[in-house]
Amino acid sequence: MSHIIYTHDTPTALSDILSQIAPDHIFTLSDSNTSHLCLPLIADAKALEEAEHIRIEAGDTAKSLFTLSMVWEALCNGRATRRSALVCVGGGMVTDLGGFAAATFKRGIAHINIPTTLLSMVDAAVGGKTGINFEGFKNEIGAFADSRAVIIDTNFLRTQDAENIRSGYAEMLKHSLLNGEDMWRRHLRFPLATPDYDELSVLVRQSIEVKQAIVTEDPCEKGIRKALNLGHTIGHALESHYMNVGHPVLHGKAVAWGLVAELYLAVKKCAFPQEKLRHTVTFIFEHYGKPDIQCSQYDSLVELMQHDKKNTDSRINFTLLSDVGQICLDQYATKEEIEEALDFLREG
Ligand code: GLY
Repeated sequence: MSHIIYTHDTPTALSDILSQIAPDHIFTLSDSNTSHLCLPLIADAKALEEAEHIRIEAGDTAKSLFTLSMVWEALCNGRATRRSALVCVGGGMVTDLGGFAAATFKRGIAHINIPTTLLSMVDAAVGGKTGINFEGFKNEIGAFADSRAVIIDTNFLRTQDAENIRSGYAEMLKHSLLNGEDMWRRHLRFPLATPDYDELSVLVRQSIEVKQAIVTEDPCEKGIRKALNLGHTIGHALESHYMNVGHPVLHGKAVAWGLVAELYLAVKKCAFPQEKLRHTVTFIFEHYGKPDIQCSQYDSLVELMQHDKKNTDSRINFTLLSDVGQICLDQYATKEEIEEALDFLREG
């Protein structure tokens, strides 16, 4: 399991962890945003003095086989060996793709994640999922590969735009729903429109701890880790749909909408309390709005859900809740039930 380091001194934390790993050659991976916004903030880490810097394009469309092969090429040309290390600095795209490049180069070299967005801190960079998009499907190709360490420095969040803070916060809200009443209520009280960064840092740590506890129990998603997919079966379909029609939405926004539709299914199928659905939905609609989808798009949305990685046969697998903190794995819904949930999402 990755070592999670909470710090406001990333250069020192990075130098410490690199001195433990003692790689023969260090590479960094950043994208066209983080290479000039974030990498300079850690470049004075002593351990990076001789590092080679690999830069890729920013954005989910760059999470591709093409970009991956460019990273492999850069590692190859830079004469990386099995004892080299890759330091991934960026959001989920960089840590997912970088982690996969590291997991596959010479059958696996060490990697360290330095997530710079809220979404990557509380989700992507933690838990060992790595991969790329393929054939229009998100994270279709990948591997479970733990990073040696994840360095969490919430100072990076102070310059993050409101839309990306909201996106990451959707995953935190999901973790609170999985965890229990106190955490969930605290998340619904958080002033998301005008974030208090000190409180956010406390919530980030709690959120990572919820995810780590689940991942420790089930690293390869055979059972309880499926809980982390709450909101994602419908959320991923919405995200792919918006990507396919050329109007991409941030992952967390799609997950927030997915939570609305899947909590509606939870009420129907697992007796999740109505008033807790209402309370959660009010918060989500206030901060994330509603998706602009039509009934005529339901067929293609359901088709996208059929591609979900949790499905083991033709049925669509959901993680639902019977209450906040009460997880119901391997729930199935019919097309009609899913359409009803999408109606609820559109009309609230
Ligand atoms: N993002 C869900 C997981 O890591 O399992």
